[in-house]
Amino acid sequence: MSDRSAANLARTWVRHADFLLDQVEDRTADVAIGNPPYIRYDDLDDDTAATYRATWSSMKGRGDIYVGFIERSLAMLKPGGRVGFICADRWMRNQYGAGLRGLVAERYAVEHVWTMHDVDAFESEVSAYPAITVLANRRQGSAVVADTTAEFSKSSASALVKWSGDESLTDFTDVGVQAHRLPHWFAGDDLWPTGSPARLALVELLTDRFGSLHDPETGTKVSIGVATGNDRAYVTKNPKAAEADRMLPLAMRRDLMSGTFDWQGNYLVNPWDVDGNLVDLADYPRMAEHFAGHPELKQRFVARNNPNRWHRTIDKVHADLTAQPKLLLQDMKAHIHPVLEPGGFYPHHNLYYVVSTTWDMEVLGGLLLSRVAQAFIEAYCVRMRGGTLRFQAQYLKKIRVPGPESISDDLAGRLRTAFADRDVDAATVAAAEAYGIDPAAYDVLTSSDTEE
Ligand SMILES: C[S@@+](CC[C@H](N)C(=O)[O-])C[C@H]1O[C@@H](n2cnc3c(N)ncnc32)[C@H](O)[C@@H]1O
Repeated sequence: MSDRSAANLARTWVRHADFLLDQVEDRTADVAIGNPPYIRYDDLDDDTAATYRATWSSMKGRGDIYVGFIERSLAMLKPGGRVGFICADRWMRNQYGAGLRGLVAERYAVEHVWTMHDVDAFESEVSAYPAITVLANRRQGSAVVADTTAEFSKSSASALVKWSGDESLTDFTDVGVQAHRLPHWFAGDDLWPTGSPARLALVELLTDRFGSLHDPETGTKVSIGVATGNDRAYVTKNPKAAEADRMLPLAMRRDLMSGTFDWQGNYLVNPWDVDGNLVDLADYPRMAEHFAGHPELKQRFVARNNPNRWHRTIDKVHADLTAQPKLLLQDMKAHIHPVLEPGGFYPHHNLYYVVSTTWDMEVLGGLLLSRVAQAFIEAYCVRMRGGTLRFQAQYLKKIRVPGPESISDDLAGRLRTAFADRDVDAATVAAAEAYGIDPAAYDVLTSSDTEE
């Protein structure tokens, strides 16, 4: 081709403009392909950031403009049109991606997510973990998830494309790649789970079949313990720090170390009465004196906003929780580690707790100790450096469990024993039976996604 034709074509084909601001007619494109830029909103000048945010609803929080590029591309698609981006996949799991997840879940379809974290996909080294994501302007159908290693190559990519064209096939393996077809994608703007394709398929199946752990119908609640706003003032080992009825035995992470609840003697100096009202300091001179020794309490934001209620903990204490048996879960562990607190203690903020009016807590403990529960945790919880998982009540609630009534006496006994013995393998075998998971799928559970 002559230079002149090339220049001509470039002039007619290529438009040089700001993709987030240039007028492009909506719904005219069959395909949008891209390798979008990564620029944090914080690094844009204020006017540009404000204009982008005002134009694209997904550009919220402290995000990155690639999110806007995806929204802009989706808006260009004809019905049935597709966007294929090689792009960081962080938006699928973090806070700033929630708007885009919500939009995609509501109006578009996820067709492919090929994670390429270890693939040398670019000429120059890039720090963002990329994935190839194909989204379509149509109703959600099945979705292909693929996980690749550094060996992933052009020929394995071609084989994967060919395989994914046949809707009847569910599993695919080739050099450097494993893929799975999920019957549908995940709903809503909650973070989308992560894991090996087979693991995701299992999580999706159990999500479709079973109810959530946190469920008013089974009277089961997942929540987090009390945030005080100042542990040095409110938490003490001195049982006489305040009047006896103000001293509430407190369950803390140190009590869970052995796997059996072993109270280390901490109390909460509790400023709330049984009805959830803040007590009057005049009625409790010893407590008043104790708090007076912590003048920093009055400096807290919550205290300055309510000068007459400066002695309050950030969260209220719900008196009826104390006596209930609880499963306590510690944050920032590599594995889910439920411990039974038989009643009498109030959970501190760094513990999550499960209470239930229908579950035998030891049977539930067995289920939560199993690798099935672990698979949910790994799929939804953010993994920190060193392999620990950052739990969040929102995602603990998502663990699926069979109905308590569906568990036979024999199975309940095995779950109870496995829980008492802290035997994860036995708990997993019994839990798999309770969920009706095919023993052939055990390796999906045992090959942990977490490297400790
Ligand atoms: C990751 S590079 C990809 C370049 C090319 N598509 C490729 O695959 O080699 C992202 C490109 O987007 C361009 N870019 C950044 N902000 C843009 C904007 N607001 N509108 C259009 N392009 C933009 C950058 O200059 C950069 O060339």
